[in-house]
Amino acid sequence: MNYSKKTWQNTDNIDWYENIPVESLRDLAIRGGIENGCDIDIIYPYIEKTKLVIEIGSGYGRAIRRLIEKGYQGKIHTLERSKNFIRYLSEHFQSIDIIEAEIATYVPPVKYDAIIGVWSFIAEFPVDEQLDMIKHLSHWLNDNGILILETLATTPLNATNTADAFYEIGTPYGTVWGHMPTQEQVCAYAKAANLKIVQLIEYKTSTDRARVLYILSR
Ligand SMILES: C[S@@+](CC[C@H](N)C(=O)[O-])C[C@H]1O[C@@H](n2cnc3c(N)ncnc32)[C@H](O)[C@@H]1O
Repeated sequence: MNYSKKTWQNTDNIDWYENIPVESLRDLAIRGGIENGCDIDIIYPYIEKTKLVIEIGSGYGRAIRRLIEKGYQGKIHTLERSKNFIRYLSEHFQSIDIIEAEIATYVPPVKYDAIIGVWSFIAEFPVDEQLDMIKHLSHWLNDNGILILETLATTPLNATNTADAFYEIGTPYGTVWGHMPTQEQVCAYAKAANLKIVQLIEYKTSTDRARVLYILSR
């Protein structure tokens, strides 16, 4: 089977996120070397002085926890669609505005200074949905707003099948799919969405996993 040709949609991953326990997702972050929030440490200089940020697809709040630990003074919104994680976030992050929504159809009533889409956010969408998602998110930004995207730059740790940039991870909770865009693809998406590339940051996590952060601006 040629897995690179497999047809899947972002919504095919819903069940996996509903089924996976918080501690199992956290374990993946630990093994990937990002549970310490090293991605947030790297992007913090870009968001430190902003007034309103949103983290999209926040899971159990790994990234927002690090933002709070770093003393972020602005307001934090967090958006998530999985009831599994909405429950957890509501119990553990009482001072944060938690938005239960599907990113693809959500239209925020405010504009953001920064949108944070880390832990492979863009790879949660198949390649034919990635540009539309970036264009959609660009409309959430205020005039000087930044969109932060992140992907793995190597095969996912638990991938059971990979082909080109496509990956499939089979687990006891079901299967989750992803597609890691290349740096060239992300640059092309930015151009098509009228966003500038402020910086592209290659980094390694505490478990020596290669990853890339993109800071895009209007
Ligand atoms: C890998 S987790 C990342 C969690 C968090 N961003 C972090 O860095 O720790 C991806 C999260 O994005 C959410 N997600 C994926 N696609 C989404 C969509 N279209 N709308 C809302 N949430 C989505 C999933 O439910 C999951 O909780």
